[in-house]
Amino acid sequence: MLLRGTISNPLPSLHLKTPLRLRSYAPTATTITNKCSISDEDLESRGFLLRRTISNLNLDHLNSVFVAVGFPKRDPEKIKLALENTNSLLWVEHKKTQKPVAFARATGDNVFNAIIWDVVVDPSYQGIGLGKAVMERLVQELLKKGIVNIALYSEPRVLGFYRPLGFVADPDGIRGMVYSRKQKKRK
Ligand SMILES: CC(C)(COP(=O)(O)OP(=O)(O)OC[C@H]1O[C@@H](n2cnc3c(N)ncnc32)[C@H](O)[C@@H]1OP(=O)(O)O)[C@@H](O)C(=O)NCCC(=O)NCCS
Repeated sequence: MLLRGTISNPLPSLHLKTPLRLRSYAPTATTITNKCSISDEDLESRGFLLRRTISNLNLDHLNSVFVAVGFPKRDPEKIKLALENTNSLLWVEHKKTQKPVAFARATGDNVFNAIIWDVVVDPSYQGIGLGKAVMERLVQELLKKGIVNIALYSEPRVLGFYRPLGFVADPDGIRGMVYSRKQKKRK
């Protein structure tokens, strides 16, 4: 499915399916600056384009990336709806194939709070700075809007990825709590 359009702003209703365990808060301004570790130009010279809207984002390809990293396969129609209800998103297009190879998005109230979801990099493109490139830009965009309370859920094995970006676990002893209804297995 190929989407053409822009992001609208209503509140999200996406249900978290992956068991993530940690809630992290507000990256410090010193960690996320206006300077990214890799510039848009450098990314382009390496064959990658940064995209900030869902125009030309092929949702079937995005779904394949989700599945490739171990997220459950989701109904493309529901992904479409979730993305339409997403405030900020970033994805990286591989110029040669036009496929998405990295993605992250944030939902929230667009004033005080945001939660980052679905941070993924296609396994074939991991370890070359795309995850960091997407996260740095997404957080910068949220900070520019004046949003200072930025949370995410992290799987334990990925904590080391988020920490250098300024995220901390259990800030001031605050613990995240999640009500997550178990999904019935499909037959
Ligand atoms: C986690 C993920 C988004 C990282 O993306 P990536 O493009 O491979 O990471 P990058 O190449 O941008 O790495 C940036 C830095 O983080 C480090 N890093 C990457 N993954 C890490 C991990 N799991 N643990 C600790 N450090 C990690 C890198 O070594 C690099 O360090 P450097 O800046 O000192 O060189 C990607 O591996 C992924 O999609 N994983 C599967 C899905 C997932 O778990 N998503 C997160 C859900 S909570």
